[in-house]
Amino acid sequence: MGGYFMAYSLNIIDNDQIQTPQDLFAFCRDELILGVKKSKHPFHLCTFCSVMEDRPFSRTVVSRGMNQSLTECRIHSDRRSQKNHQLMSNPNVSLVYYSQQQRLQVRFEGTACILMDQAKADHYFITSSQHSQQCYAYPMSPGAAINERTKEEQYPELSVNESDASMDEARKNFSVIDVSIKALDALWLSKKGHVRIHGIHNANDWDLKFVVA
Ligand SMILES: Cc1cc2nc3c(=O)[nH]c(=O)nc-3n(C[C@H](O)[C@H](O)[C@H](O)COP(=O)(O)O)c2cc1C
Repeated sequence: MGGYFMAYSLNIIDNDQIQTPQDLFAFCRDELILGVKKSKHPFHLCTFCSVMEDRPFSRTVVSRGMNQSLTECRIHSDRRSQKNHQLMSNPNVSLVYYSQQQRLQVRFEGTACILMDQAKADHYFITSSQHSQQCYAYPMSPGAAINERTKEEQYPELSVNESDASMDEARKNFSVIDVSIKALDALWLSKKGHVRIHGIHNANDWDLKFVVA
């Protein structure tokens, strides 16, 4: 059976386009913003790391928001998850994005908080896909042991029924995590020499410099 495949084409940067740290910063920013919108972009996913009692915890999440100045980013999570508990006891987080095709890694350090503005959280919930919303509808917390293989098998009635009641539960379990970004590190791999920048966000601006890769 012949399938029609449309390749997803990514923006590529070259050596000549990186004359200043701001050039690489701008490329990373544009790609990270694109990654939020485009599910096939490698920056659609990132690794989100939190800390609890001196132990690091990491997991893959979907990149849901990134502002123009690269000072705020957003992910969505179950309120009952480990990451939410960890953030409440220690807000320090790091995020890593990697695009193999673009040979680009971006790392952020920052502090995370759970969005308390219910109207905004409602907006993000309502504009999520039905499948994403449904993931939050189950009565057991993520990570809890179950008798069946999956939560869908454990609660078949919920899996077929998108009732108002189960969607109300889903909304209560849904949470938005906002990250305030304090520092970044970007690494672009090149045969002519890897290019790496480090940035600290002070007051209103990024202080960027090239560093040894
Ligand atoms: C491709 C992929 C995307 C994921 N996206 C999310 C996400 O956006 N939000 C989320 O909470 N978990 C997401 N997960 C699940 C997490 O990796 C993790 O298993 C879950 O959040 C529980 O982690 P925790 O107990 O440390 O909070 C994703 C997993 C994969 C493999």
